[in-house]
Amino acid sequence: MSLQKIPGLIDIHVHLREPGATYKEDFYTGSRAAIAGGFTFIIDMPNNPTPTISNISLEEKVNLTKQKALCNIGFHFGTNGKNIEEFKYAIKSPNVFGLKVYCNHTTGEMLIEDPKLLEDVFSNWNSKKPILVHAEGEQLSTAIYLGNKYKRNLHVCHISQKCEVEMVREAKKKGQLITAGVTPHHLYLTKEALISLKGYAMMKPPLGEDSDREALWAGLKDSTIDMVESDHAPHTKEEKQTGPDNKAPAFGVPGLETTLGLMYKAVKDGRIIEEDVIKFLYTNPKKIFNIPDQKDTYVELDPSIPYIVGENKYESKCDWSPFEGMTLYGKPQTVVINGKKILENGMIINNK
Ligand code: DOR
Ligand code: ZN
Repeated sequence: MSLQKIPGLIDIHVHLREPGATYKEDFYTGSRAAIAGGFTFIIDMPNNPTPTISNISLEEKVNLTKQKALCNIGFHFGTNGKNIEEFKYAIKSPNVFGLKVYCNHTTGEMLIEDPKLLEDVFSNWNSKKPILVHAEGEQLSTAIYLGNKYKRNLHVCHISQKCEVEMVREAKKKGQLITAGVTPHHLYLTKEALISLKGYAMMKPPLGEDSDREALWAGLKDSTIDMVESDHAPHTKEEKQTGPDNKAPAFGVPGLETTLGLMYKAVKDGRIIEEDVIKFLYTNPKKIFNIPDQKDTYVELDPSIPYIVGENKYESKCDWSPFEGMTLYGKPQTVVINGKKILENGMIINNK
């Protein structure tokens, strides 16, 4: 094995479920999953059972991560359109990196359907910290309109459809302050996967057609899409199977442990070049979300060495992956965070 040193990677889009749903994941297991996957700085989303839309709930999370997390963690603040008073504090907080706005239904209770409330959110988030939108199709054109009107840094999360790539490309051409992230599952899977994976392939936004998938790779190639974000969204196996009451499976798939390997596979497959891996998982997210330097932090791996997803189990509490059995490349062998070795020979050695 010939190890190379890369920076500690950044994932700006994870759901670590604490507080409120720690039977799926918590800051300890979620940060272990991050480290196993080469991420040393991750940003947690606000759609907890009690959403992170107040400064009290934000501080609770900050304290929990101090006690439990093994890697660096930041947060996106949430909004239901009625917590505008809380924005000032969140904007000032060094722990907050953006504002997450849900324009489509998904896990959690933060959907903003009222256009007036949505506009209030855009006008009042008076900050360089990005507004991150979950906005599919038509919803995205509204978000782009408002982002332009208020000159906000708009980040389009988990872009998934060809028409959305075109909208972002157009907005960029016009000089709008807009960026986009894509998930590995939207890059690798189409709705065909529902046949074999059933509920395990259900997520928001849903998987699309092959033409959507190709448009996403093309978007990465021409810099319409700026980064890869895992949207690590762990749910238990029970929650992903349709229950006897026919309850629909929960939306979302875990991704922290497979994102980097899938990107090195994309290099092997000739989809991207090796430098792109660092651009999509470090340089661009760092710049766009203004993430501080991580001192004495790095990862060592050999991108030519294959491994099989699931062969050594998972660090994530949910204990499954939609990519189980797939051959990926470049499993992290060493991770050092803030001068402390946390992973050695591919194993986490430094526990809390
Ligand atoms: O599939 C998803 N799962 N999409 C989201 O937007 C939320 C996430 C979750 O929190 O489960
Ligand atoms: Zn998400």
